[in-house]
Amino acid sequence: MKIKKAVIPAAGLGTRMLPATKTIPKEMLPVVDKPSIQYIIEEAVASGIEDILIVTNRAKSAMDDYFDYHPELEESLKRAGKVNEIETVRRTADLANIFYVRQKETKGLGHAIWRAKHFVGDEPFAVLLGDDIMVSETPVMRQLIDLAEEYSCSVVGVQRVSREVIGKYCTLGVKPVKERCYDVTELIEKPRPEQVISDFAILGRYVLTPAIFDVLEDLPAGYGGEIQLTDGLNALCQNERMLACDFEGKRYDTGNLRGYMEVTIDMALEHPEIKDWMKDFLRSKIENS
Ligand code: G1P
Repeated sequence: MKIKKAVIPAAGLGTRMLPATKTIPKEMLPVVDKPSIQYIIEEAVASGIEDILIVTNRAKSAMDDYFDYHPELEESLKRAGKVNEIETVRRTADLANIFYVRQKETKGLGHAIWRAKHFVGDEPFAVLLGDDIMVSETPVMRQLIDLAEEYSCSVVGVQRVSREVIGKYCTLGVKPVKERCYDVTELIEKPRPEQVISDFAILGRYVLTPAIFDVLEDLPAGYGGEIQLTDGLNALCQNERMLACDFEGKRYDTGNLRGYMEVTIDMALEHPEIKDWMKDFLRSKIENS
């Protein structure tokens, strides 16, 4: 089992980040000097992924342009002798083989993944949610792929979350297999307090077998009247093995203002050109507040 394809659903409306996302796709909002989706693509590539399908909608064409060459800009940079800048703008277009499909109606995550059926074909594939930026020593997607390749089955990326916030995610029934690895027995999307099965929730990363497409095809709408991927996974894990990988790494939810500010400050504190300045700046702000 080799995983070479990934799907990035990026067709959400970004309503938690208005007004910035009124005309700019939320995936294109910069985190320091790169749009947030570039971090997701870099994680996929660092995990061995070669072909990436981005599920978009009609308001997201800035993304297609970003991952394309820009001959006029390159020509102007060349004339100005800006060699490093040429390399930087070229690199985004050469990161991976990127494909696009539109989700013509906003019908939920399960429906967005279903749109990837023809791209994926008959092989297991990775899913990386566009809102979740991960920072880890071994790329989070690589941790999931290692397990999927070892056990030849689907794997979902989980971490423990507090009971106060688990209702924003999903909850899983799990049985231990080995360190940081569990069998998944049941999943519930956006659980009410009395439905919580464990503290584990899926956070933005999946490796799925193509059997998910048959499940999604006939799946009734679930939470919020949308086709929920979690409902599809709940059906899938009744028929075939599914593991949960309690991955190592920090996850940022860039789809809300706090998560977005958190990742921006943390990334700035790691950025070679500005990290020292950023530290001094933050220190002086706190001292003077
Ligand atoms: C989605 C999934 C949910 C998951 C969450 C975080 O929810 O449906 O199961 O826990 O992402 O990755 P959303 O953030 O779209 O409401």
